[in-house]
Amino acid sequence: MHFISEDLDDYIIKHSEDEPKLLQKLNRETHQKILQPRMLSGHYQGRVLSMISKLIQPKTILEIGTYTGYSALCLAEGIRLEGELHTIDINEELYDFQRKYFDLSSYGKQIHQYVGDALEIVPKLNMNFDLVFIDADKENYCNYFELIIDKLNVGGVILSDNVLWSGKVLESIKPDDVDTKGLIAYNALLKNDVRVETVMLPIRDGLTISRKK
Ligand SMILES: C[S@@+](CC[C@H](N)C(=O)[O-])C[C@H]1O[C@@H](n2cnc3c(N)ncnc32)[C@H](O)[C@@H]1O
Repeated sequence: MHFISEDLDDYIIKHSEDEPKLLQKLNRETHQKILQPRMLSGHYQGRVLSMISKLIQPKTILEIGTYTGYSALCLAEGIRLEGELHTIDINEELYDFQRKYFDLSSYGKQIHQYVGDALEIVPKLNMNFDLVFIDADKENYCNYFELIIDKLNVGGVILSDNVLWSGKVLESIKPDDVDTKGLIAYNALLKNDVRVETVMLPIRDGLTISRKK
């Protein structure tokens, strides 16, 4: 869904950083070979993720929802030399595709993949994070927040994707639409939880930045 006109969208992309060559290749191969390529962050949002990560210069990054590795590689662009990125996806079939592109990048050794349900894996990660990207399993965004908040360093940032859910957060919800219900509850949680300060950005499908106080 376009929240602004396609012409303005094109203008914004033209006046932002180009998509790096490796990510162009990953983007193309995802569209050729992998189901649901629309899940990939893509050129513009990828550059936003890269810029935020470069501004934060995180030592440790957590990503929930690797898919084909596009956003992981964007976030890795800001990581410190000694830093690590930990990324989780429930779909084991994506593992080799992700690893191929991680190893083609300069961050291969810093990126650690986990296969399984993030709800089970996050509690087992014995580390703190400077930057977290939540981009999977909309129904459980509130649960991910509760699992992450104590592992987030003060000043650390949570980026949450798809918070506008193609505008469905404003519509009447079908009883079985657990994703929209989950996102509406999550957006309210971020606004009201005193542990974070939050700004929602109308980027692509909605991207929220929350900073731990
Ligand atoms: C929207 S895609 C992630 C896109 C990726 N972050 C990007 O921007 O290129 C969501 C991914 O979450 C994964 N996923 C769904 N439920 C999950 C869960 N409970 N735990 C971990 N990963 C999950 C899916 O397999 C899918 O690859």
